[in-house]
Amino acid sequence: MFSHSIRRHTQELIIFSNLQVKSRVIQAPTMVYIHTLTLLLLLLSSATTQQPPPDAVTRFQQYLRINTAHPHPDYPAAVSFLNDLAKSIPNLQTRTLYLTTPQKPLLLVTLPGSNPSLPSVLFNSHLDSVPAEPSKWSHPPLSAVKTDDGSIFARGAQDDKCIAIQYLEAIRNIIAKDPGFKPTRTLHICYVPDEEIGGFDGMAKFVESNDFKELNVGFFLDEGQASTNDEYRVFYADRSPWHIVIKAAGQPGHGSRMFDNSAMENLMKSVEIVSRFRENQFDLVKAGMLANSEVVSANPVYLKAGIASSDGKFVMNMQPSEAEAGYDVRLPPTVDPDLLKKRIADEWAPATRNMSYHIVEKGPLRDYMGRPLVTATNDSNPWWMVFKHAVEACGGKLSKPEILSSTTDARYMRVRGIPSLGFSPMKNTPILLHDHNEFLKDTVFLEGIKVYESIIKAMSSFEGTTP
Ligand SMILES: *[C@@H]1O[C@H](CO)[C@@H](O)[C@H](O)[C@H]1NC(C)=O
Ligand SMILES: *[C@@H]1O[C@H](CO)[C@@H](O)[C@H](O)[C@H]1NC(C)=O
Ligand SMILES: [Zn+2]
Repeated sequence: MFSHSIRRHTQELIIFSNLQVKSRVIQAPTMVYIHTLTLLLLLLSSATTQQPPPDAVTRFQQYLRINTAHPHPDYPAAVSFLNDLAKSIPNLQTRTLYLTTPQKPLLLVTLPGSNPSLPSVLFNSHLDSVPAEPSKWSHPPLSAVKTDDGSIFARGAQDDKCIAIQYLEAIRNIIAKDPGFKPTRTLHICYVPDEEIGGFDGMAKFVESNDFKELNVGFFLDEGQASTNDEYRVFYADRSPWHIVIKAAGQPGHGSRMFDNSAMENLMKSVEIVSRFRENQFDLVKAGMLANSEVVSANPVYLKAGIASSDGKFVMNMQPSEAEAGYDVRLPPTVDPDLLKKRIADEWAPATRNMSYHIVEKGPLRDYMGRPLVTATNDSNPWWMVFKHAVEACGGKLSKPEILSSTTDARYMRVRGIPSLGFSPMKNTPILLHDHNEFLKDTVFLEGIKVYESIIKAMSSFEGTTP
């Protein structure tokens, strides 16, 4: 009861301070104020929190049972759980940041290094997950049931609650084996809200904050994806989404008349041209020349035309004067966006055919220096070499680095020129992110902890110079 009333009181104060704070100038002291309150709250509540369960798999299951699925993710519960878990590990410091509202906290866990002047290493895990349709699952998606073969079923088991726990368990193991362990570089872990809905109230706000600037991040490790074979996958870039609407105008007319340049005819010509482009790209994939994520995908997502009739259907004897189509287009960082724009203007929606278009670029394509959003995976990038050797040192194998088909929060780092890799150590595992019956095997989860032990030791103790 006591702890509850304190919590409510604290939130009121935070809301109150947020209302006051619009200017950036007084933001920093307010954040300190909120941190102090959070600390107070944690001190008060830690007296009543029980010790986490004795093994890592059970702790993973507990975290999976916290509902952080959209549209109503319980971020405060997830952050409170992770905060307690981090506090149960010696040497770890925690801080909760409120970059938007009290309902969207961001947890920052820190293992201080002996040389804080060196750029730090930041590991990321988003707190949220996509919704699940329980009726399509063999076990309830929040049950985290472990079957006889060790498969743990839950929404978020792969994307990406596994890494959230594995980071902490890896540090726990490192310190258990070597209580004097102190890395050279400071290691941070951030647990951020809203990745699945674009990160606008999560990573996007975080990278803009002074709290982030103060971390002086030199390398960023984010989520990756499961691999169906014996090699771990690693991602060095994301594809960038464009939402494109092409619109056709044309002569309207009676449904019985044959004439040139109706809106429908103009649009259908474009639809055919985009389909041929899509086919050519897909052929490169089918021929094994490029990976899915290395080509431009252009998928039709809607068609809109016709004149509505009063019975909710369409008027059948009228050729409409407007028609449009929507496309989800994804660009790998290797593609020249200006060339694609020219293709859209010249071929997909030419003004000569009474077409117009609108492109919504859903993400950046270049970093602050104008370079493609790509993290080098060769010896020009010392971080890559340290990462690769660390995975190999614990017996792991990496497959050829890939571009991710979709996007992650890593793009917010790459835009700032911070080298970023996507990696989730799940091998011999079906790829089930966002799918029904998402699961992860306990043995795979535990092996992943060993991989992170190696990565964390290597990256946080790396003393070489970095660009
Ligand atoms: C463009 O639209 C105008 C007005 O509807 C029409 O007269 C003309 O024929 C159209 N031209 C083409 C190429 O579609
Ligand atoms: C390393 O990779 C980067 C990014 O892909 C590339 O631009 C560069 O030419 C490569 N350098 C070497 C030495 O291969
Ligand atoms: Zn994810």
